[in-house]
Amino acid sequence: MKIALIGYGKMGKEIENIALKRNHKISFKIDNEKNWKLSKEKLKNTDVAIDFSTPQSVISNIKKCFNANVPVVVGTTGWFEHLEEIKRLCKKTKQALFFSSNFSIGMNIFFELNKKLASVMSNYDDYDVTIEEIHHIQKLDAPSGTAIILANEIISNINRKEKWVNNKAQSENELEISSIRKNKVTGTHKVKYDSDVDSIEIIHTAKSRKGFALGAVLAAEFIYGKKGFFEMKDMLKI
Ligand SMILES: NC(=O)c1ccc[n+]([C@@H]2O[C@H](COP(=O)([O-])OP(=O)(O)OC[C@H]3O[C@@H](n4cnc5c(N)ncnc54)[C@H](O)[C@@H]3O)[C@@H](O)[C@H]2O)c1
Repeated sequence: MKIALIGYGKMGKEIENIALKRNHKISFKIDNEKNWKLSKEKLKNTDVAIDFSTPQSVISNIKKCFNANVPVVVGTTGWFEHLEEIKRLCKKTKQALFFSSNFSIGMNIFFELNKKLASVMSNYDDYDVTIEEIHHIQKLDAPSGTAIILANEIISNINRKEKWVNNKAQSENELEISSIRKNKVTGTHKVKYDSDVDSIEIIHTAKSRKGFALGAVLAAEFIYGKKGFFEMKDMLKI
């Protein structure tokens, strides 16, 4: 396939490596708004675009792909509040979008564990639950998109939690997410249930960006030739 890379930062470069190894070609790369002026025409010669850019540019990037009838895989985070609107646009204009805030296959298995554990723990009021996410210092959004997914799944399963907060919880119905920024940490997420007598923790640690990049290229292969909105559960058999 001919793949366009929208966002050629840390992830864009990793995706390029994996895409080339899987015998795809890179049709063009965009790394800022100015690049678009020169490259918009090249979208016509592209099978799938992969966007790992910035929360500020992602919506305009997706719309450019939709306008050119190019399926787009999006990994950029920090724009959740617009996701439903973009899904509607995708459906209305009969385009193709694959979004995941975490393309790692291991993380998607972790999501399932988190749901299962939350449904078990809903019966055990003695345990309080918290989330911790650690990322490198360049990460623009906090809490991470992944931590928000984990939090929303816990809230759906545990009645005593009503909303998440990205600071110290002030009441029992708040689910605390702490965001820690440390140099060179690719991404660590911990869900902890704590009581007076013991604690239970599940932890996912990304060792490098390769896992995200592979998931994004697999998503590009999956979405090619399809129309509609897709996410990891459509691609993986979990
Ligand atoms: N979904 C996942 O699995 C996953 C994994 C890792 C990172 N991410 C997310 O992907 C995004 C990128 O992460 P990164 O670590 O590569 O960041 P990065 O800062 O290294 O790269 C982002 C790149 O986007 C470029 N950019 C700025 N404006 C642009 C525009 N208008 N069009 C195209 N590109 C533009 C920047 O110049 C930069 O090089 C972030 O939102 C991050 O949270 C998602």
